[in-house]
Amino acid sequence: MAAAATEVQGIDLFDYRQSQTMHDVTRAWRASTPIVRLGPKLLYLARWHDCWEVLRDPHTFGNANGFKVVDIPEEERSLGEMDPPRHPALRRVMRTGFTRNFVAGQREYARVRADALVAAIAAQPKAELVSELCDRLPNDVSLHMLGVPEADSHRIIEWAKELLHSDWTWKHETDRGFGIVGSFPEFSAYLDELVDERRRPDAPDDVISRLVKSEFEGKPLTRTVLRTLCVQLIVGGFSTGTNMLGNLFYRLLREPALHARIKSEPALIPAAVDESLRLDPPVVFILRNVMRDTTLRGIPLAQGERLALGILSANRDEEIFPDPDAFRFDRGAAQHLAFGGGAHLCIGASTARLVGCEALRAFVARFEPGEIALAPDYRYHGVPVFLEHGPERLDVEIARPTRH
Ligand code: HEM
Repeated sequence: MAAAATEVQGIDLFDYRQSQTMHDVTRAWRASTPIVRLGPKLLYLARWHDCWEVLRDPHTFGNANGFKVVDIPEEERSLGEMDPPRHPALRRVMRTGFTRNFVAGQREYARVRADALVAAIAAQPKAELVSELCDRLPNDVSLHMLGVPEADSHRIIEWAKELLHSDWTWKHETDRGFGIVGSFPEFSAYLDELVDERRRPDAPDDVISRLVKSEFEGKPLTRTVLRTLCVQLIVGGFSTGTNMLGNLFYRLLREPALHARIKSEPALIPAAVDESLRLDPPVVFILRNVMRDTTLRGIPLAQGERLALGILSANRDEEIFPDPDAFRFDRGAAQHLAFGGGAHLCIGASTARLVGCEALRAFVARFEPGEIALAPDYRYHGVPVFLEHGPERLDVEIARPTRH
């Protein structure tokens, strides 16, 4: 008789109070029942190798419609909501906007912004790091790459938040209407205008210009596709980047020895960013659809079932990461799944790492360990979003604010 996935009741992945803090539960699953049935059509994969096997096979384990419960019109699908053959073809187009040199060219901007935001924090006796740094830097860098004016950053943050917290994320519509245009008419009009400006011969070299000049299936990208890709590029790196920085600074604020070590050895900064992403992934799981009957670890999976790939669990799989709960600098090449993997590996991973490194560099350069500390009455609350993991606020006090 074929093995069956173990059924577990009472775990609701779509309840953020559970999904962000499942470490004890997932540790036990990894040890005894690595593939768990959480509902009639939903299974959770707790081990790294199982997640990886699924990620590397986009034909058997698909993405179509992502988290949405309706069929999305093809042109309105983000890359994460597409399957082959459209996905690899459009992903190639998208990557022309994210060449290694182009991303590396953003470092100077990220450095200057990080220094300015950290300096503004250091000038006050009290600050709130999520809104004053973690929200701002990833968004500003993404917008800079896209070619959006910095002065519009606040507006875009508001639109991105509205979108990420709306029914659109699962219904593809809101009370205002269907799709991006119906649900967010102001945001859509703003993006369409940006795209139109990039059609001019003197348009600057940014990601939107590169996409406007690209061809897909022998034709320029349509207005709808361009708008959809812009939305994904703005929101894809927004709350994820915020949570990456929030998790990193929350740890540093609680562990002054770690702060001191990084300050004295800045060469450790890239490893620290990746280790934080491993231990505290901003996205705690991703979904895949089983496209045809198959098996995994001898367990039958039926077409139409959904798999939750437990990034939070896989990133602490003791088979891949010895001493998995420890923050270590010597783990070598990043094997963690914070950016997913395989065909849908995050397109913004190098941008996100650049942002993480510049934020951490600016922070440890400006503050001595212990000079900035969590407020005495601070209480951790996670962001109220089931898929995400990060602090909602980081209220801090600064021992000796610097005067300008
Ligand atoms: C710390 C920051 C980030 C994290 C943790 C993160 C996480 C992820 C994950 C887990 C996926 C895979 C989803 C899946 O397989 O279903 C993904 C895909 C993606 N990310 Fe990110 N991301 C981050 C930053 C960014 C940034 C800055 C951008 C854009 C500038 C971006 C754009 C994308 C895009 C376009 C995809 C879809 C790729 C595809 O489906 O082919 N991300 N991201």
